[in-house]
Amino acid sequence: MMNPSILMHPSKPFVSPLYSTPRTRTNVTESIAIEGRNLSYSVATRQGKTIPILRDCSLRIPSGQFWMLLGPNGCGKSTLLKILAGLLNPTIGSVHVKKPRSFVFQNPDHQVVMPTVEADVAFGLGKFNLTPDEVKSRVSKALDAVSMSKFMQRSVQTLSGGQKQRVAIAGALAEACKVLLLDELTTFLDENDQIGVIKAVRNSLNSSGDVTALWVTHRLEELEYADGAVYMEDGRVKMHGNAADIMDFIMTRQSAYIKEINS
Ligand SMILES: Nc1ncnc2c1ncn2[C@@H]1O[C@H](COP(=O)(O)OP(=O)(O)OP(=O)(O)O)[C@@H](O)[C@H]1O
Ligand SMILES: [Mg+2]
Repeated sequence: MMNPSILMHPSKPFVSPLYSTPRTRTNVTESIAIEGRNLSYSVATRQGKTIPILRDCSLRIPSGQFWMLLGPNGCGKSTLLKILAGLLNPTIGSVHVKKPRSFVFQNPDHQVVMPTVEADVAFGLGKFNLTPDEVKSRVSKALDAVSMSKFMQRSVQTLSGGQKQRVAIAGALAEACKVLLLDELTTFLDENDQIGVIKAVRNSLNSSGDVTALWVTHRLEELEYADGAVYMEDGRVKMHGNAADIMDFIMTRQSAYIKEINS
C-alpha cells in the first residue's frame, strides 16, 4: 500500500489544464453530470472576519464515470462535496449537478435507519407512489448492484461498516439517483470492507450506465478504481483529470517532500 502521507503536507502550487480530458471512456460528445464553475465559499467569524474555505474551484465530471476527490486534511473536500450536493450554497460561482443526487456520509452508523436491509433500501421509496411489486423490484435490483442481495432479510445491526455503506448506496440507487456524492466512506473500514464498497460503487456505475460518482478519499490506492480525479490543496483545485496522472503528480510530491526532509 502506498503511503498517503503526502496528502497531509502542503506543497508548491501546480498549474494544470482544467477540464483536461481523462484518457478512459471519454469523448467530446459526452454529457456532463457534475459541474462547478469558479466556486468560492467563505464563512464569517463572530468577530466579523471572513474566512475563505474554497477559492475559485472549477471541476467537470462526465456522466457515467467514477471520479475521486483527494487532498490534505482541511483543504475543503467535504465543503466542495456539500456544495455539489446542494447542502451548502457557494458564496460565488455556479453548480450544475444531474438530479436526483445523493450524499452518503462517512459514518456507516449514520446511514441506515430501518431494522432490516430490505426495509432500509425501501425507506426512501414512499414518496414515489409505487406498487408493492415495483418497490420489491427496485430494492432487489439495487441490492444486486452492491452485491448485498443475500442480506435482504438481515438486521442492519448485524452488518459490518462496509455492508452498511453498501446498503446506503443501494438506497440511493433504488431512488434512481443520477449522482452519488460519497464522503470518505472507507475511513472506518478494514481492507476487505474498503474494497467491497469501492467495487459496489464501480459495479453500480457499470450496471446502470448513467450513474456518476464522486468519491472523497485519503487513500491513494483507491485511485486505481477511478476514471478521473480532482486534487485539492488549501481550498483550490490544483489538478483535474486522468486518475493515473493525478497518482503520478501525488507520488512526485511525495518524493519531493521526502527529499526535502532528508536534506
Ligand atoms: N462552518 C465553518 N466555519 C468555519 N470553518 C469551517 C467551516 N466549515 C469548514 N471549515 C473549515 O474549512 C476547512 C475545510 O473543511 P473541510 O471539512 O471541507 O475539509 P476536508 O478537506 O473535508 O478535511 P478532512 O480531510 O479532514 O475531512 C477546514 O479548515 C475547516 O475547519
Ligand atoms: Mg472531509
